[in-house]
Amino acid sequence: MDAETTVAELTIERASEVTGLCQQALDLPEDAAEARSLVATLWERASDDRTVRVFGAYRDDELVGVLISSVAGADGRTGHVDLVAVHPRRRRQGIGRILVGHAERALADLGAVEVLLAGNPPHYAWPGVDVRYTPAICLALALGYTQDRTAWNMTADLSYDGSPALRSTQAAEARLAGQGVSVRRAEPADLPALAAFARATFGGSWDAELAGSLGRPDAGCHLAERDGELLGFAAYGSSRPSWFGPMGTAPAAEGSGIGGVLLRRCLADQRAAGIGTAQIGWVGPVPFYSRSAGARIERVFFLYRKSLDQTMTDE
Ligand SMILES: CC(C)(COP(=O)(O)OP(=O)(O)OC[C@H]1O[C@@H](n2cnc3c(N)ncnc32)[C@H](O)[C@@H]1OP(=O)(O)O)[C@@H](O)C(=O)NCCC(=O)NCCS
Repeated sequence: MDAETTVAELTIERASEVTGLCQQALDLPEDAAEARSLVATLWERASDDRTVRVFGAYRDDELVGVLISSVAGADGRTGHVDLVAVHPRRRRQGIGRILVGHAERALADLGAVEVLLAGNPPHYAWPGVDVRYTPAICLALALGYTQDRTAWNMTADLSYDGSPALRSTQAAEARLAGQGVSVRRAEPADLPALAAFARATFGGSWDAELAGSLGRPDAGCHLAERDGELLGFAAYGSSRPSWFGPMGTAPAAEGSGIGGVLLRRCLADQRAAGIGTAQIGWVGPVPFYSRSAGARIERVFFLYRKSLDQTMTDE
């Protein structure tokens, strides 16, 4: 470690300082604007489900860089760097390198054998490193990470009345009603049934994301049902107010228009909350979102991986 930089583990009382640094250090305005939600998602809320360790880099008592890391999965063998950010005036002084090295050692101490620079669902800020954070990609490569996947979001434009993302759902809902399908906003009491439906139909666990969407400000969920049987759901806001997802329609009900209705109901809520563009996160069925909401692929993320054995051998 160089003489001037010190690293300290931060506790949750420092969340507002970490948020303040992220507001200055996340170069993409859409991320800086949601820094408060990102820190809450990755740290305050995630700590209930997983081990989260947060580090601050200091120069002369000034917080100049932050890193949020976590260990996921039942076996704890995979560590994640969920966020790393260095103040713009302090870049290229080795602070990012120091923070990531520190996190790698802390994650190894927790039993991790590899580290991912990639989202750790259900509490994630991004699927991976946005390609426009090019210095972060250079940092990953400099530290021996290799790219193993690519992910992308789609953007739905909510900024003008005629946007295809804001097309009325009325006619489609009337057609569905004719088939006995009703659509409504989900309530917190729907959570157990929604989580069970998602698990049984799609395999993975969306429990935490659904829980994060129900009964919280800046978030919501809509569902479709027939005779009390769930046929689909769409949720938004669990990780970030402007982000849409997850959603799912029962395979037997696919093609009936349920998905498009649920999607646009969520997007209408997000617009009513003042959001100008919604991010459909970590997509998924591109043609569906393109058709149903005129969404376009925009944010692209590289996901990185590094074996910690390699780190230990290199040292
Ligand atoms: C990515 C980020 C954290 C890097 O922090 P940093 O303290 O400037 O990084 P370091 O000084 O430790 O750089 C270590 C190495 O990474 C590489 N690197 C970092 N920034 C680079 C750049 N702009 N161009 C080329 N290489 C770069 C270099 O190899 C560098 O080593 P070197 O300076 O000896 O050549 C910082 O640019 C940042 O905060 N960016 C905005 C937030 C962000 O992108 N976060 C990632 C998304 S979670």
